[in-house]
Amino acid sequence: MKARAAVLAPEQTSFLVRQRVARLSTADAAGAPYAIPVCFAYDGSRIHIALDEKPKDVPATRLKRVRNILENPNVALVADRYSEDWDLLAYVMVRGQAGLVEPGTEEHAAAVRLLRGKYYQYEEMKIEDNPVISIRPERAASWGALDTAESSHLLMDALTGRRSVRRYLDREVSEEAVNEVLEAARWAPSPHGRQPWRFAVVRRRENKERLAEAMGEEWRANLEMDGQDAEVVEKRLEGSRMRLLDAPVLVLLCLYLGDLDAYPDAGRQENETTMAVQSLGAAAQNALLAAYSSGLDAGWMCAPLFCPGKVTEALGLDSKLVPHALLTLGYAEGDPPRRRSRRPLDDLVVYRG
Ligand SMILES: Cc1cc2nc3c(=O)[nH]c(=O)nc-3n(C[C@H](O)[C@H](O)[C@H](O)COP(=O)(O)O)c2cc1C
Repeated sequence: MKARAAVLAPEQTSFLVRQRVARLSTADAAGAPYAIPVCFAYDGSRIHIALDEKPKDVPATRLKRVRNILENPNVALVADRYSEDWDLLAYVMVRGQAGLVEPGTEEHAAAVRLLRGKYYQYEEMKIEDNPVISIRPERAASWGALDTAESSHLLMDALTGRRSVRRYLDREVSEEAVNEVLEAARWAPSPHGRQPWRFAVVRRRENKERLAEAMGEEWRANLEMDGQDAEVVEKRLEGSRMRLLDAPVLVLLCLYLGDLDAYPDAGRQENETTMAVQSLGAAAQNALLAAYSSGLDAGWMCAPLFCPGKVTEALGLDSKLVPHALLTLGYAEGDPPRRRSRRPLDDLVVYRG
């Protein structure tokens, strides 16, 4: 038997699933229209909408949208994108039949999982107690630049504009600004979603001094072992110390392996750790991009990696945390003097069909 053609074309699906909000239009038995914004998730065959409002005296099934659907299952849902750049305007409209899926069914549980996967806010809400509206698409229409991501140029601006900053203005960085950076780090991908990292924020001068002292000792020993000239050693150490003291905020990125899987063999255990380190890099990049996008600047210092024990001791951290990298945060004193260019893609990619 020939498979039924999907109602939504691939580019319509791709556009739809990237949208966070859509407008749901229902009508009562007499055809009077009613439209509201909704959060939704599409599983490839149905569009699901949670009923999260539950005023005490109004059961979810008394909501106007639900009453309309029970009287008249014909609905339309529009997901659209507006931009001042009208080349980026686009929408997808889906028309179909809506119904209620009741709690206690596998279909309901799957819809709740899907919605919670898309909107973390639903994790805290009791949407599992209410029916879910499910729409079976029958027709789809669309218009505009479905395939152009509105934010792609903004993201590219951040990716190419971000640069390592090593000298900062004596200008305060607000707690909200730091939290925004940490929030971005929290959303990085990680092995099994375990988030094997912890972040220590350091602002006070005496703590920065202790940290600089501890890392400086190790670096001095390493530079001397390398046979570096004493004067050069002092100069480099002082530069690094001032970099730490002058940065308004330091964020120490630590690995935390406690929540990872345990394996009986060393090989897999090592890979597990490698994955955690990889994801720490992803968290760091999220933080750097968030900092840059919000008007802050940042730099990366690898020094803690070379003396993790001394760093935990200097900051009084739990010994289960393994310091890996230090991000400095602040407002750049000026454009950084050197900006490393990048190798061309042809040097970095092999195409194997
Ligand atoms: C793992 C890692 C370690 C780094 N360690 C240091 C460091 O200790 N000191 C420093 O000045 N920059 C450090 N950097 C920053 C790089 O030097 C910088 O990213 C690179 O030169 C490219 O410049 P850009 O970030 O301005 O594009 C580090 C970067 C990474 C990814």
